[in-house]
Amino acid sequence: MAEETILGYLAKNQEIADSGEFAAQHGLNHDDVVNVIKSLHGFRYVDAQDIKRETWVLTDEGKTYAASGSPEVQLFLAIPPEGIPLEELQKKLDPLLFKIGRAQAAKNKWVEMGKQLVSRKVQHVDDTVKDLLLQIERGKVIDQDDIKALKGRKLIATQTWNGYSVRKGPEYAPQRKKFAADLTREMLQSGEWKNLEFKEYNFNAKGQPIEGGHLHPLNKVRHQLRMIFLQMGFEEMPTDRFVESSFWNFDALFQPQQHPARDSHDTFYMKVPAITKELPEDYVERVKRVHESGGYGSRGYEYDWNRDEANKNLLRTHTTAISTRMLYLLAQKPFTPKRYFSIDRVFRNEAVDRTHLAEFHQIEGLICDRGLTLGDLIGVLHDFFSRLGMSKLRFKPAYNPYTEPSMEIFSYHEGFGKWVEVGNSGMFRPEMLLPMGLPEDVRVIAWGLSLERPTMILYGINNIRDLFGHKVDLGLIKANPICRLGVD
Ligand code: PHE
Repeated sequence: MAEETILGYLAKNQEIADSGEFAAQHGLNHDDVVNVIKSLHGFRYVDAQDIKRETWVLTDEGKTYAASGSPEVQLFLAIPPEGIPLEELQKKLDPLLFKIGRAQAAKNKWVEMGKQLVSRKVQHVDDTVKDLLLQIERGKVIDQDDIKALKGRKLIATQTWNGYSVRKGPEYAPQRKKFAADLTREMLQSGEWKNLEFKEYNFNAKGQPIEGGHLHPLNKVRHQLRMIFLQMGFEEMPTDRFVESSFWNFDALFQPQQHPARDSHDTFYMKVPAITKELPEDYVERVKRVHESGGYGSRGYEYDWNRDEANKNLLRTHTTAISTRMLYLLAQKPFTPKRYFSIDRVFRNEAVDRTHLAEFHQIEGLICDRGLTLGDLIGVLHDFFSRLGMSKLRFKPAYNPYTEPSMEIFSYHEGFGKWVEVGNSGMFRPEMLLPMGLPEDVRVIAWGLSLERPTMILYGINNIRDLFGHKVDLGLIKANPICRLGVD
């Protein structure tokens, strides 16, 4: 609309002397006119010269007086012909208005400030301040002395007005040419391309944002950890089962059936299918015996082991259930040493808070070989954790039903300036390994940690619900940086 008007006007006239007047005459918005002029100027359809004008606009205070009268007139009108005590007059007016009005009215000699009464000195007053303000509001030019006075009272302020004077430019045409953006098959077939002008490439344009898939921070950290395990010669265990039997999750790990972790307050049990279909019977028999009466140098727990309890299906509470299955499979063949790892999801019936969810990911590593010692475990933990960037480690004796000895792993966090718990570890008990059929001198050293903990530290996330679950911000998933483990 504005573009047609401008180009059309220049076809018949030398110039547009003032874009402001031009906009007003043609009923156009001046901002629109300015934008079109800038664009036409860019394409050299027009030449444009800046016009800057200082104009006066009303301040907020000026606007209120233009609407309801100057303070001096308001004060004057509040004085009755017979006069009024000062205090009463004061009560009738807003304090600031009273203060300004009194000073101005006195200056104008409109009022008499007597000891008893305030009274009018003149019969009638004109509100020239209000009139002047209204004129400025309507864009009228007023006398310099009046401007000075209003400016002095901070009722008006300058504003720079920007506009243009416009003439035809070197590429002037009464209508803008449309540039083709793409060369199409149709243009080639019809030969139309010969007559077209093409838009120039803008090599500075940012381009479309890339909308591909995005990896979740947990996936990135998991990938890096997987690489570390693979570099250390570990094989990944198949963890593709969330549902596990109590047998593989607890009993085979020499975890007694009365153990509090097996309570439904800590573990999610399955309603359907509630029980497991099959278990290796001869092995189940050996597990039952080791719980009830021990063997292999152990006294066992000395209680009646219940098969129904072992049959119950649950959501696995640790990936150590998978490690157990793998060790059992290994025991069925002539022995070969192994290094296994897994990183997958586990479930616990926990109250959800800033650092806990009812499901999380567990990282687990184990080495099984003849004659391994606690020294080997400490050594491999130093190797593994220093690859994650945690080289200062400390160990604290701990307890797991399936490991002896057991150690909690602490790492010194430079950023936090303190020791933080980073994992749990131990050597699997003979009561767990020997019923599987592993040779007597085979030892298994193992450790586990959560994937969420290092991910939260690496990505500076304080609330686990910002990392995992339905409250996660998609922006975080789209924009999270690459994972750099072990590099500062
Ligand atoms: N399963 C243990 C846990 O849930 C981790 C662990 C794995 C501990 C292997 C010792 C050995 O915390």
